[in-house]
Amino acid sequence: MSIEDLAKSKRNAKPRESDEASAGGEKLAHVRIRRFDPERDTEPYYQEFDGIPFEARSVLEVLHTVYEEHDSSLAFRRLCTRGFCGSCFVVVNGEPVLSCQFPALPYMTIEPHPKFPVIRDLVVDLEHPIDAESEGAEVSSKAPAPTAGGR
Ligand code: FES
Repeated sequence: MSIEDLAKSKRNAKPRESDEASAGGEKLAHVRIRRFDPERDTEPYYQEFDGIPFEARSVLEVLHTVYEEHDSSLAFRRLCTRGFCGSCFVVVNGEPVLSCQFPALPYMTIEPHPKFPVIRDLVVDLEHPIDAESEGAEVSSKAPAPTAGGR
């Protein structure tokens, strides 16, 4: 199976019933991640992952689990992992957050910030906001109320 076929099959995968399933006592999350590789994709799509441990983990740790155990083509950024550098800035369930500081939720839709040009997947060009209002884009490390399906 070529990389292109694999990418297509992942794009067309149906969401599964996951939903905070428990495996060996560990609660598991359903995660949707907006993907886009300008060298391969004609438009963005959402890739879904089930069975990701999330309790007492940050969004960044969940992204690492996805990368290491499910899809090593996922691109995301982090440097300090302490909330200082801002490189891990993403949008979770509609709220801009620092993924290294933001607690993971049972249902998450993780996207790049819409006001910055996407370089690949969750990596954006922080040097060039799309409009002047985004210059001071606020981010949060507090958890929003969980929403079913991450919508
Ligand atoms: S990795 Fe530096 S703020 Fe999150």
